[in-house]
Order: sequence, then C-alpha cells, then structure tokens
Amino acid sequence: MGTKIRIFLLIIFMQISISYQKTDLVILMALQTAWPNTTLNWKGSDPCDGTWLGIGCTNSRVTSLILPSMGLTGGIPGDIGEFTELQILDLSYNKRLTGTLTPAIGNLNKLTNLVIVDCGFTGRIPSTIGNLERLLYMSLNSNGFTGPIPATFGNLKNLYWLDLSGNKLTGSLPVSDGLTPGLDLLTNIKHFHFGNNQLSGDIPPTLFNLNMTRILHLLFDHNQFSGSIPSTLGFMQSLEIIRLDGNHLSGQVPSNINNLTSLNEMFLSNNILTGPIPNLTGMNLLSYLDLSNNSFDQSYIPSWFSTLESLTTLKMHYTNLVGELPAALFSFPQLQNVDLSNNRINGSLDISSNPSKQLELVDLRTNLIEDFVQRDRYTIDLILVGNTICTELGVTDYRFCSLVPMNTSTLYSTKYNNCVPSSCDLGLLPSQNCHCAYPFIGLILFKAPSFSTLENTTIYDSLHDNLTAYYQKVKLPVDSVLLNNPNRNLVDYLVIKLYIFPSGEPSFNRTGVIGVSFALSSQGFSSPKGFNTYTFIPENYLNFLSDIPGPGGTKSHSSSTGIIIGSAIGGCVLVGLLILAGIYALRQKGRAERATQQKQPFASWDLEGGSGGVPELKGARSFTFEELSKYTSNFSEINNIGRGGYGMVYKGTLPNGQLIAIKRAQQGSTQGGLEFKTEIELLSRVHHKNVVGLIGFCFDRSEQMLVYEFIVNGTLKDSLSGRSGIRLDWIRRLKIAVGAARGLQYLHDLADPPIIHRDIKTNNILLDQRLVAKVADFGLSKPMTDANRSHITTQVKGTMGYMDPEYYMTQQLTEKSDVYSFGVVMLELITARNPIENGRYIVREVKQAMNKDMELYGLHEILDPIIGLSTQLKGLERFVDLSLRCVEETGKLRPAMSEVVKELESIMALVGLNPGTGSSSSTSAATNESTGKDFSHPYSNDSLFAYSGGFLPPKLHPK
Ligand SMILES: *[C@@H]1O[C@H](CO)[C@@H](O)[C@H](O)[C@H]1NC(C)=O
Ligand SMILES: *[C@@H]1O[C@H](CO)[C@@H](O)[C@H](O)[C@H]1NC(C)=O
Ligand SMILES: *[C@@H]1O[C@H](CO)[C@@H](O)[C@H](O)[C@H]1NC(C)=O
Ligand SMILES: *[C@@H]1O[C@H](CO)[C@@H](O)[C@H](O)[C@H]1NC(C)=O
Repeated sequence: MGTKIRIFLLIIFMQISISYQKTDLVILMALQTAWPNTTLNWKGSDPCDGTWLGIGCTNSRVTSLILPSMGLTGGIPGDIGEFTELQILDLSYNKRLTGTLTPAIGNLNKLTNLVIVDCGFTGRIPSTIGNLERLLYMSLNSNGFTGPIPATFGNLKNLYWLDLSGNKLTGSLPVSDGLTPGLDLLTNIKHFHFGNNQLSGDIPPTLFNLNMTRILHLLFDHNQFSGSIPSTLGFMQSLEIIRLDGNHLSGQVPSNINNLTSLNEMFLSNNILTGPIPNLTGMNLLSYLDLSNNSFDQSYIPSWFSTLESLTTLKMHYTNLVGELPAALFSFPQLQNVDLSNNRINGSLDISSNPSKQLELVDLRTNLIEDFVQRDRYTIDLILVGNTICTELGVTDYRFCSLVPMNTSTLYSTKYNNCVPSSCDLGLLPSQNCHCAYPFIGLILFKAPSFSTLENTTIYDSLHDNLTAYYQKVKLPVDSVLLNNPNRNLVDYLVIKLYIFPSGEPSFNRTGVIGVSFALSSQGFSSPKGFNTYTFIPENYLNFLSDIPGPGGTKSHSSSTGIIIGSAIGGCVLVGLLILAGIYALRQKGRAERATQQKQPFASWDLEGGSGGVPELKGARSFTFEELSKYTSNFSEINNIGRGGYGMVYKGTLPNGQLIAIKRAQQGSTQGGLEFKTEIELLSRVHHKNVVGLIGFCFDRSEQMLVYEFIVNGTLKDSLSGRSGIRLDWIRRLKIAVGAARGLQYLHDLADPPIIHRDIKTNNILLDQRLVAKVADFGLSKPMTDANRSHITTQVKGTMGYMDPEYYMTQQLTEKSDVYSFGVVMLELITARNPIENGRYIVREVKQAMNKDMELYGLHEILDPIIGLSTQLKGLERFVDLSLRCVEETGKLRPAMSEVVKELESIMALVGLNPGTGSSSSTSAATNESTGKDFSHPYSNDSLFAYSGGFLPPKLHPK
C-alpha cells in the first residue's frame, strides 16, 4: 500500500519536474519579453521551423542563438541557462544590452562558442562560465566588465581563444596553486587577449609552462602590470606576438627572450624596463619591434640592427641609444618605418646603399647626427630636426630639418570597380560597384599587424580582396566592400573603416546583418597574412530591409542551419562558416518593403528633447550626453581647445582611440531642433578628403553638439602666424591651396545638395598630420536646392575681410561668394597677413604693390619671408593672377572653383610636383594617370581607375 503511494508520488514528482524543464519555445518567449523595443518577430509555435531570426536547430532543439547587431535592448534573463542544447551564443554588437551577465550562462553545458563583443555589460564576469568545459572560443571584449578574471577559467581545458580586452577588469592574473585553478592550466590556449583593462600585479612566472605549447598571441598591453617580465616567457617558443606595452613593468628584459624565434611582433614600449637593451640576435622573423620609452641603460647600437632582416618597423625612441647607425639597417627589404628619435645617435647617417623600397618614414629627431649621406633623391620622409646637422651647421633650410614630413602621398582607399559613382539619396552611399545602398559600417581594429605602412595599397587591397572573397564564399548577400582611412590609434592598433554593401536590395535585411556581423564577431573571416587578429566595432544599422515574411511565404523557407551545425560541432570557426552558408543558401528571397525608418530617418525625432527618439544617420552617429562627457573628462578645461560665438570646442577621445573635436553650443545659442536636424543631415552627407568629416552629434538634455574628426595640426591661420611651429614653404602652401580648393569644389559641384560654405577663411581651413588641408565649420553654410539654384537671398553673414562685396551689397549669396573668400585666403597664404590689418585691406595692398614687369611681380616686400627663397617661388605670379581673378568685384568675372582647382594643379605641375593626389576635377581623370599614386576616396567622384586587385582565396581557419 505504502509502496503504491510512493510510486504514485514519484510519478507526480517526475511529471512536475518535467513540466518545469522549460521548452526552447518558452525560453525564447522569455528572451523576447526581456528585449523590448527589438524587432525579432519570433512568432508561431516552432522555433525550429526555419523562420525564426537567429535561431539554429538540431533535432528540433535550439543549438545556436546568433543575434549580433540586432539592436537588442535590455538584459539577458536567467532563463537562457535552460537552453540545454545550446552550442553557439553570439549576442555581439548590441550596445544597449546591459546589466550583469547572468551566472545562468554557466548552465549551458554544451556551449562551444560564447561571443558577446561590444555590448553594454557591466559587473563581474560570472565564475560559473568555468563550468563550460566544452568551450572553445570566448570573446567578452569591449564591454564594461569589472572585477577579476575568474580563476575558474582554468577549467576550460579546450579553450583556444580568450578575448577579454577593452573592459575594466582589475586584479591579478589567476594561476593555479593546487587548490584553485588558474590560467596556466589552459593547455590548449592560442590567444590571450587582455589588452586595455586595469589588470595589475606581477605577470606570474608559472603562467608560462611547457604544457602550454600552442600559444600564439599574448596581448597584455595597456594594463597596470608591474614587476619584471618572467624568464619563463622565454620558454614559449610557439609565440608569434607579444604585447606588453603600456604597463608598469620594470627590471631587465629576460636574457632568454631571443629564444622566441617564432616571434613576429614584440611591443615592450612604455614601461620602466631597465638594464641593457635586450640582445635580440637570432629573432629572424621579427617584423615589428617597439621598445620605446623605457629606462634602459645607455647602450651602443646593438649588433642585431644589422641582422634582423624581416623588420618592417623599428621603434626605439627614448631608449638611451648611443653610436652610429649601420647602413645595413636601411637595406632590410621590408623596412617601412624607423623611429629612433630622442636618443644620442651620432656620426654620419648613411641611407645610400640600396635602401628598402618600402621605406616611408625615418624619424631621427633630437639626436646628435652630424652628417647625412644619400646617393639618389628618394621619397622617404626623413626627420632630422634637433640634430647637430640641423642646429650647428646652420642649414635650417635643409628640407629634413623642418618638422613636418614632406611626403604627402595619401592614405589608402579602395578603388571603385571600373565605374563612376553618381550621387546617392540621403544616407545612401555608392558601393564599389557604384550602386547606391545603405552600407553596414564599422571600424576594424587590428591589434598587432606586422607592418606599419599606411600607404602601401597592395597590403590594403589584399585585405579588401580577402574579405570580398570570403563573403562570396559563404554566400552572404554582399555586393562589395570598401575600406578607407587606415590609421593608428592611441594604443597603436591599426584602425580601418569598413563599409559592407548589400547586393540586390538597397539595404540588408536582419538576416543579412546577422551574417556579415557574425563573420567578424567570431573571426569567421580570417584576415590575410600580416594583419593578424582584429576586433570589429560596427555602427548601429538602422535601415533594415523588412524581413517579415509575406503572406503565403511563411513556411516556404525552412532552414537546414541546424543540420549543418549538428554535423559540424566542435569545428568552431568552421561551424560559423557553415552556419552562414546554411542561412544564406536558403535565404529568404521574398521582396519586402523597406522598413519605415529608412524613408523617414527623422520620423521619430523628438523635438522636445530626450535622446530616446534621436535618429542616427548613416555616417553620423548619435551620442548621449554621458558618452561625450566621458570622452572629454566632463568637458574639462584641459580639453577645451577653442571658443566661438556659438560656444566651446572640446577635444575628446573615443573608446577606440580616435581623437574627436566636439562643438558644443552654449545654452541660449542652440538652434531649434529642426534647424539642428537640418544641419546634421547636411553634414552627414559630406564626405571628402579635403573636408572635415562629421562623426556624429548629440541632441540630449537640451544640448546640441557636433562631433568631428580631430585635425591635429590646427588651423591654417595658426601655421601662417607661426603659432603652430609648422614652417610652410611655397610648396606646402601650394599643396594646401589645392587641397582647400578641392574641398570647396566638392561642396559646390559634387555634394548633394550643393553647399555654399559662406565662411571660408584661414581659421576654417585645418591641416592634418600630413598638412592635408580640410575645410571646416559649416555653421553658416547654405545648401542650394533646385529652387534657389542661381542664388540664395539671405541675411548677410560671414567674416569681414573675406566677405564678397557683391553679396554684402545685394544679400544674394552665390558660389562665387566662396570663390571671393578663397581668393583672399590665397593672398593670405603668400603674405601671411590678416585680410584687414591696421586698417589696410590685403586685396588693395597686393594690387598696389604689384608690378607685372618685375620678377615675382615686385611683391618681395609684401611676401611672407618664411615662404622661401625667391628663386624657388616658381609659379607665384600665376598664383597671384589667379587670386586676383577670384577677388574680382563682380561674381561673374570670378572663376568657378573647378577652374581654380585646375589652375592650381597646373601651377603645381610647373613646380614639378605631382598634382596627383586625387584629381579633383571630376571630369578629368587623366591628370594623374601616369603616376600610379592616385588617390580615391570612396565618396569623391575622383576615381575612374580600373580596379586591379588580384583574387586571393580566404583562409578558413584563423590561427
Ligand atoms: C522601450 O521603449 C520605450 C518607449 O520608447 C521606453 O520607455 C522603454 O524604456 C524602452 N525600454 C528599454 C528597455 O529600453
Ligand atoms: C604539465 O602537465 C602534467 C600532466 O598533466 C603535469 O603533471 C605537470 O605538472 C604540468 N607541468 C607544468 C609545468 O605545469
Ligand atoms: C628555449 O625554449 C625551449 C623550449 O621551450 C626551452 O626548453 C629552453 O630551456 C629555452 N631556452 C632558454 C635559454 O630559456
Ligand atoms: C647576443 O646573442 C648572440 C647569440 O645568442 C651572441 O652570439 C652575441 O654575442 C650576443 N651579443 C651580445 C652583445 O651579448
């Protein structure tokens, strides 16, 4: 009797416990509820029917949840821990996914890939993750995690990829002690990426042991590690990359460091290392070496300066080096950049014997070099400022003795595919095949590339071609990919802007965005040789093509994703690849309308304030007040770099290291929301190498701020007045004139709608690190619509001295008003005088002083003495002629900006300069065909060259 009851109770109990085992459907419903304001459209009763966004199944159980870049908002509920069959979880790039990471993640016993990159998570990383013994790949980078790295990670025996970089982790690295586990037990690890945290303490010697035989990348840079570098590091012979830079490491570099013969890159810079400079003899694969800013003993130039033939980059500033540089160093075939500034190098510099063809920059400023031997004229940038040769011999005119590199070859941009991009509607951009579309945009950050060139187009083309081929291979709906603006950020990552264009439709649907995102969040795409590992940080994608299945089409596209995953478990990255293939082989083809927000980017703009409804335009992102406050240390005084009628300008740094300038309208001078909106709309459409780019804006807490790229060398005015310390000779001034003219021509002729700047002056022309001119400040700018094509009647605004007299009298603004101002800028360029100085007007002064019968029109007196010797001022007369045509009283007599550009280019040709960098005159691409050094910005209309990249098949497995 009792037994029967007991059995009965047992059965009931079992039933209860089974009903408590939630089904995948129930869990997914809980997730959908936890993520309000998110369009997932999970509907129906079967998550495995192939229509559920981001869900992959095996045997009717959910095995993958892949939702990167889906704008998920909220947190991750504990329910997720009940996905007992889940193998792959990727929630990357959902910046509004916040809160702590639920410890329930630790219940996902079958998980192999845990990828949560660039979300908003905070708090501690749950130690329960240490239970996930099948885990192979874990990326929790670019979040706000705090606290220590859980020691339980030591239990993840199969883990080969651990990326925790870009968080706020503290504490020391856990190592095992017999009782608790530690990172030293990760015998399958290949990648430790811990950079940009606040980790501290010693680097434990026991971390490195002979059981850890597969390790490739050790990225511990930009933390607070102290103590000395353990000599056990010298046992890790598989290592290819070491980054220990930006810590407080002290003591001697272990003498067995040159046991690491597989090492390609070593960054030990910005520590307080002492003792002799390490002996790196035998590290023959070393390509990138940075030992700068340490406290090494005074050392003679080491012998390995003549033997490490793979070097592309040698950086050793402030390392206390003494002696003469061997000529052999400069003949290493791949050498690109040498920075040995601020040492005590002396003797004669010899770059004459067969110098590397790739050599771009040799920075030897502040040394004791006395002499310089060169055989041929060559094109490298050489800086010898502050050496005996410049200071004592009085050769200040020597081109290597001035501060800014002469080489103005331009940075890389992918070329168009044999087509001419036409202007696109608001928010759309031309793809490589010149189709207007909404690209998926982001920055790709390479943490330790083996090269340092920013100019070698072959290298960047290879990245482009690999990525294109990869997307084709996995059958993603990608039309093409564009790359531009490679740069080094503050922590020495190579940052490249990436635009991925949809094929077929003008925008990606959600599935498409998941596909392109996942390829990058999970390192499915493996970058070509030399680029090494990366982190991708996308902008929010707002213009989803609606992917709600149309009536009748609902069940027609069941997915075999799950089957593919099932058959590939454990393959990890390969799994990712196959999932993508699976998703896209059966990609829904139904034509659907565009999402409504695409047509009306400002439809939800809340003019009464509040950031909730603020839209983000393509190319311009919306920042919250908190973000900008953080990037500028609460708008601190130190970061205040200027003021104007509208308010203040602040300098700031984005989390990715990019410098920004923030224009903050002061209370009272803010415009109406609608006007601000109009200004952003206008600015976000302006993309040109010679125009300062808008990065974003803030319309939050009744603040109005515009965020621009920061331009390092400040205004042209500062340089002309000598305040910036940059010496502008005639050649540089010509280049600046042509650059600014091209920017202005772009605004007049190529921007859509055309824009009249209305405030061209030397204060509004900025110079970047290569002295490329960029037109800035659109505060007074006016777009020209079809209705006011010939002129705009408007209240007179502008700056006295630069203002078009005709506009002043008639209030009719035309493009020629800008031409007038530009003419004044040209006169200022050669005289370095203010337009109105002591009551005298520059235009009249020049006209009066001029005598066309004399050499240089007899202007010697009035020319800026810094401009150079009169014998070298070739073309100056034509320059003066042109500027006087620009300042003709009547607009009709002034040239258009396109003519100004052409004339300036032909003056450059006269001087023997290649005007090549970006033939601006949109119609003629012929000007620089011969040079092969053409520049093409994806948004300027200036590249008509055939795309000439070779095909490189993608690698399927990252190392
Ligand atoms: C979702 O949107 C509503 C209305 O815009 C807002 O009140 C709510 O806070 C949002 N929820 C989350 C989690 O962001
Ligand atoms: C390497 O692994 C073996 C076997 O697991 C173990 O006995 C040994 O202590 C480990 N060696 C080190 C240096 O950790
Ligand atoms: C060099 O590395 C090997 C293999 O890891 C190790 O056995 C050897 O002791 C190391 N040599 C030195 C000098 O550290
Ligand atoms: C550097 O190391 C190499 C090889 O280990 C050795 O031959 C050479 O003498 C060392 N140089 C110095 C200056 O110690």
